[in-house]
Amino acid sequence: MKKRIYIADLRKYLGGEVEIYARVNTRRDQGKMVFFDFADSTGPVQGIVLPQSAAMKDAKKIRENFLVLVKGNVNERPENNKNLNVPNGDIELEIAEICILNTSETTPFPLGDTSDINESARLKYRYLDLRSERMKKNVKNRFRVQQFIRNYLANEDFIEIETPLLSAPTPEGARSFVVPSRLDAGKFYALPQSPQQYKQLLMVADFEKYFQFARCLRDEDSRGDRQPEFTQMDLEMAFVSEEDVMRLNEELLIALVEELYPEKKIQEIPFPKMTYHDVMERYGTDRPDVRKDKSDDDLLAFLWVTDFPMFERVADDNNVDDAKDWTFTHNPFSKPKDAHVADFMSGKNIENILSTQYDIVLNGFEIGGGSIRNHKPDMLRKTFEIMGYDQKRIEENFGHMLEALSFGAPPHGGIAWGFDRLLMILEKEKSIREVIPFAKTGEGKDVMLNAPDVITEKQRAELMITVSNPITQP
Ligand code: AMO
Repeated sequence: MKKRIYIADLRKYLGGEVEIYARVNTRRDQGKMVFFDFADSTGPVQGIVLPQSAAMKDAKKIRENFLVLVKGNVNERPENNKNLNVPNGDIELEIAEICILNTSETTPFPLGDTSDINESARLKYRYLDLRSERMKKNVKNRFRVQQFIRNYLANEDFIEIETPLLSAPTPEGARSFVVPSRLDAGKFYALPQSPQQYKQLLMVADFEKYFQFARCLRDEDSRGDRQPEFTQMDLEMAFVSEEDVMRLNEELLIALVEELYPEKKIQEIPFPKMTYHDVMERYGTDRPDVRKDKSDDDLLAFLWVTDFPMFERVADDNNVDDAKDWTFTHNPFSKPKDAHVADFMSGKNIENILSTQYDIVLNGFEIGGGSIRNHKPDMLRKTFEIMGYDQKRIEENFGHMLEALSFGAPPHGGIAWGFDRLLMILEKEKSIREVIPFAKTGEGKDVMLNAPDVITEKQRAELMITVSNPITQP
C-alpha cells in the first residue's frame, strides 16, 4: 500500500499529482465549475473541478459531509484567489478523479461553531458535534495537557497506577453510584467517588510517588462545573509536608501553562496563599475569583486556600444541640495541623481544629484539593469517633484502612485536580461539558446511547432486583 498523503503536506507536492482521503466540508456548484472544501485530520484544502473535466459527472453527485478519495494536481492558486489567512490558502487541488467512499445524510445541525446549537441535540449527535473545529481543538488539547502532565510527573519519578472502578464506597461527601452483583446477588459494588483509599493503600505498598488520570463517579446534581462522571488528576506522595505537595503542583501548573498556553498570563507567582478564615472574611467564599482584570480571559489567577476547619456540624434541625454531630469538611482521611493534634486526640475544641487540607482555586473555580493524611490508625479512628461512629461501624466501614495503616504506613499526602475544570478554564469554555468528549446532560443522561435505561426481566431476576415501578419495565 502507498503511503497516505495528508492534506497538511500537500505543499510539498506542488506541481505534482496526489491522492487524498477527505471529508467534503462545503461544495459550491457554479455550473461549469465545482469548488470543494476538503479536510482530513491535518487540515483543509480547496478542490476545483474545471469545465470539461472527466470528474464533473461524479462531482455533481457529491454533497457536504461525503467522504471521498480524490486524485488531482496540486496547483498554486491564481494570485487574486489566494487567502493567506487559512492553511493551504495559497494552493488548490485540481481534481482529475473523485470517488465517493461514503455518502452522508444531511446533519441535524451545521457543523461550524456549534456553541449556539441546542445542547441536547449536540449531545445526542456528539459524534457530529465533535467534528466541529472548536470541539476538536478541545479534545486534542485535553490530550496534549494530559500528555504534558504524564511526562512531567514521569520525570519526577511518579508512576501511573490504575485503580478499580468496581469497589466499595469511599466517602467524599456525595452519593455513590452502585452496581448490582450477579454472582453475589443482593449485594452491590460502589463506583469510586475518587481513588482516595486506593492511593493511600499504594503508599502502604511503598509506591512513594503515585499519580493517575482517574475517572470518578458521584451521584449528585450536575451543573456547569460538575458531571456525574468526571476525571481527576490524582496524586499521592510519601514523606511530604503540605508545602511539598503544593510546591510540586504549583511548579507543574506553571510549566504546563508556559509550555502549552504561552499566550496566557499567570497573575501572581508564587501563587498567593490564604487561610480559609481570611478568604471567607474577605470574599465570603472559599473559591474567590481574585483576577485583577476580569475582562482578560487569558489571565490566570491561582490561589491556594489552606487551614480549613477539620470538622463542621451536621446540618440536622432536630438535633442542633448535640455536640457529637460532627462531620468532616473534605474527606475523613485528612490529618489535623500539628498544633491541633493534641486537641484532636482528646476530642476538645473540635470546632477550632484545623486540617492540613489545601485547595487550589483558579479564576473562581475550585480546581483541586488535597491534604496530608492520618497515617496512624489511632488518628484515623479518632476522626470517626469525633463524628460519633461507634466502634462496630468504624470497623465495618473502615477496618480495612485501619488495618492497612497498622503495617507501617509512611506519612503521606496528596491532591486531586478536577481535570475537566482546569481544561474548561484553559480553553475559555463556560461548562466542563465542552471539554468532555462524551458528556452527560444536566440531568445526568447519556442521550446518545440512551442511558440510564431499564433492564430486562431476566436481568432483574439474576440480580435479584425488584423495581417498584413496573410500568416502565419491559
Ligand atoms: P475533591 O472531592 O475535592 O477531593 O475532588 C477534587 C477535585 O475534583 C473536582 N470535582 C469535580 N469535577 C467535576 N465534576 C464533579 N462532580 C466534581 N467533583 C469534584 C474539583 C475538586 O477540587 N480524594 C480527594 C482528593 C485528595 O484529597 O487527594 C477528592 O476527591 O475540582
